[in-house]
Amino acid sequence: MEHLFTEIMRSFEGYNIGKMLKYMDNPEIISFAAGMPSAELFPVELVRTTQQRILDNNSDQVLQYSPVQGEKDLLLAVIDYLKRDHIHIAPENIMITTSGQHGLDLVGRLFLEPGDTIICDLPTFGGALAAFEMEAPRYFAKDIQEDGSDIAGMRDGINDLLQKGIFPKFIYVIPDFQNPSGITMSLTKRKELLALGEEYKIPIVEDSPYRELRYRGQDIPSLYTLDNNRGNVIGIFTFSKIFNPGLRVGFNIGPPEVIKKFSFIKGANILNTPKLNQDICTAFLREYDLDKHFRKARAFYSEKLDFFLETLNEFFSDLKEVHWTVSEGGLFLWMTVPKHINTMELFHAAIKEKVAFVPGELFFPREYEQFNKMRLNFSFPSKKQVVQGVQRLRNVINKYL
Ligand SMILES: Cc1ncc(COP(=O)(O)O)c(C=O)c1O
Repeated sequence: MEHLFTEIMRSFEGYNIGKMLKYMDNPEIISFAAGMPSAELFPVELVRTTQQRILDNNSDQVLQYSPVQGEKDLLLAVIDYLKRDHIHIAPENIMITTSGQHGLDLVGRLFLEPGDTIICDLPTFGGALAAFEMEAPRYFAKDIQEDGSDIAGMRDGINDLLQKGIFPKFIYVIPDFQNPSGITMSLTKRKELLALGEEYKIPIVEDSPYRELRYRGQDIPSLYTLDNNRGNVIGIFTFSKIFNPGLRVGFNIGPPEVIKKFSFIKGANILNTPKLNQDICTAFLREYDLDKHFRKARAFYSEKLDFFLETLNEFFSDLKEVHWTVSEGGLFLWMTVPKHINTMELFHAAIKEKVAFVPGELFFPREYEQFNKMRLNFSFPSKKQVVQGVQRLRNVINKYL
């Protein structure tokens, strides 16, 4: 039946990180590949009691269809939650999504025709590339720098594109503790990026799953905050990393005309996000001690980050050609190995040594692939696994030197 598939779907291969998982089914493999939050931080009791209470009191409604834009209570709870981050929006600026990946899919569907151009960093989030791939876009992308996007490079690229009659549709960035590089965009660059978007009338898509997870350094205002409701930023948020990824709830924020269209698209593709899951998220925002929860999460991950960095220093400090980013938050570090090492090949060798990471090429648009990078997750493995895993990684890299 394949000949009947659309041209885009015939070549579409899905989310590549998912496919790497099949190589990791041996429980002896120490995985630095996952992007999962730690289950130790899930507020299980809150989920259990809230679910029971809702089912006892309100089963008729909770098991029904519910509004496309989202439950009113959750919309209002999120609006209040965002004030903590100096984001002030009204109900027409927000729509509940079935998590961040859904939020990204909506952006692609709304803005992209096949062949349209997206501006982004190198590397960038592989899940976003997979979501946008549904519309077969092109990319103009520049290497991310220590302080975030290469704004000057993006500006030159946009000028070149405009000269060729190509108008880029949006700029996609993850300013805080980027997945995969762990890099955070400086305040100066955030202002420059906003000015760039405004000057050329190109919207900025700010993907923000990790903002609460800062372990070092100073908070920097989000692009959405800095835009000050001028309407040129679309924010993609999720409960996945701050609460849990299993409920699949998130939210997109932006100008009313964009949110309205997101709702139309959501109504046509998934209709509504389960009310039960939304109500549990409302309870999380309204009833849980968020400050305590985030303090605990930051302390937990911060210790993991410090330990991972110490272990990398211990096993790799003699190898000047191997280096890694030192992130201030989030879940990931980004390692660069000598140019001649292809990390996809290295991955298969590493699996035999029982250690896993994500080969960097999965975080580059096809025409921009780089092969000597890898993403390392520091938040999931135990200390013992970190030591063993980093040692195994060093052993396998040794064979390629
Ligand atoms: C940058 C970024 N955006 C979006 C997502 C999507 O997350 P979810 O669909 O679980 O909300 C992730 C998940 O890892 C991510 O890292």
